Amino acid sequence: MSEAVELGKGLHWIGVKDPTLAVFDDLFPTEHGTTYNSFLVQGDTHTAIIDTVKAKRFEEFLAKITSIMDPAEVDYIVVNHSEPDHSGSLAKLLQHCPKACVVSSQAARTFLGNQIHAPFESRIVKDNESIDLGGRTLRFIAAPFLHWPDTMFTLLEEEGILFPCDAFGSHYSGEGIFADEMPDFSGETRFYFDCIMRPFKERILQAVAKLDGVELKMLCPSHGPIYRCDARKPIDLYRKWSMPKAAGKRIAIFYLSPHGNTEQMAEAVASGAGLPGVHVTLCHINHASVADIRDLMEECDALIFGIPTINRDIPKPMWDVLAYLSTVSLKGNIGGIFGSYGWSGEACRMAEERLKGMNFKLPVPFVRSPFMPKPEIIAECEALGRTIAEEVLKK
Ligand code: FEO
Repeated sequence: MSEAVELGKGLHWIGVKDPTLAVFDDLFPTEHGTTYNSFLVQGDTHTAIIDTVKAKRFEEFLAKITSIMDPAEVDYIVVNHSEPDHSGSLAKLLQHCPKACVVSSQAARTFLGNQIHAPFESRIVKDNESIDLGGRTLRFIAAPFLHWPDTMFTLLEEEGILFPCDAFGSHYSGEGIFADEMPDFSGETRFYFDCIMRPFKERILQAVAKLDGVELKMLCPSHGPIYRCDARKPIDLYRKWSMPKAAGKRIAIFYLSPHGNTEQMAEAVASGAGLPGVHVTLCHINHASVADIRDLMEECDALIFGIPTINRDIPKPMWDVLAYLSTVSLKGNIGGIFGSYGWSGEACRMAEERLKGMNFKLPVPFVRSPFMPKPEIIAECEALGRTIAEEVLKK
């Protein structure tokens, strides 16, 4: 889409689309591309741009602004979050907006100082501060760690229009810009949450609580469709996805077992861990979805990993599972490791380093078995499970 879109009187979408983007930030697949949404808000006396776009799309972005007004007349550029997909065009834009003041959180101002190596006028705003545009008020709502420390939301107060930057977004570029014009993209919204927001569930609950009582008419995230109907829907979903699960002691055992040996060990660990009051889940990682594995990581008090050594390494599917640890809100930090091997057995030590690097407490040294576990190894596995269950019950 090459033109700005009017969302209301004196309010325009001036973002850009990136429909062919296949991988976001070199991290997340984006089957339907994405958008970098930016907005121009004109009050009676002052004008503000809310967020910019990726640097490589600056010319298209500038053309949209110029189609509405002279950029030299822009008074404020609000940076809700300083990741370069939203602030990448800021330095160039400032050259066209000589009187503009950059409005942001303190953290964003610090980060911008490391991105734009030239002086610029700035104003730091705190939670609940506002700026008067003349008949229109921009109110700022601190939302740290959604998903960077610098994040804030901007509320166009009189009209109940929220600009929450990354929160509530979707990597989805379709026809038009409004959610009600699109085919079902709910899967992209959930995937985006899982990839980007999921590690910050407590922060999400704190941020969405600040929106209670705000009558929202439109929700304008920085990625994907804009909600002009049912603006609360993605906010309610974020609250639901972030709510803590039911109480109770739980242990998950994630394992792989090419020849059945590590599985025998996993069953022994589960048997030992099955103390009264502890629910144990055995999870063969190739038979579980990524969402199921992440859910278990967040719901369980202890995570135990059964890892065979293949070619002197941790098998790739288990490396992936260990990588998920940094993408979830862990409930506990008690861990354990075991696994079978043929002739070298490096995987357990590698996993031990990974878990220690993630601040896991390992109450029992890992248990390894050359090929098929002997009865004494099975007994060690049962003891490993039992000790970890006892640790969990102490909490
Ligand atoms: Fe869309 Fe955190 O940047």
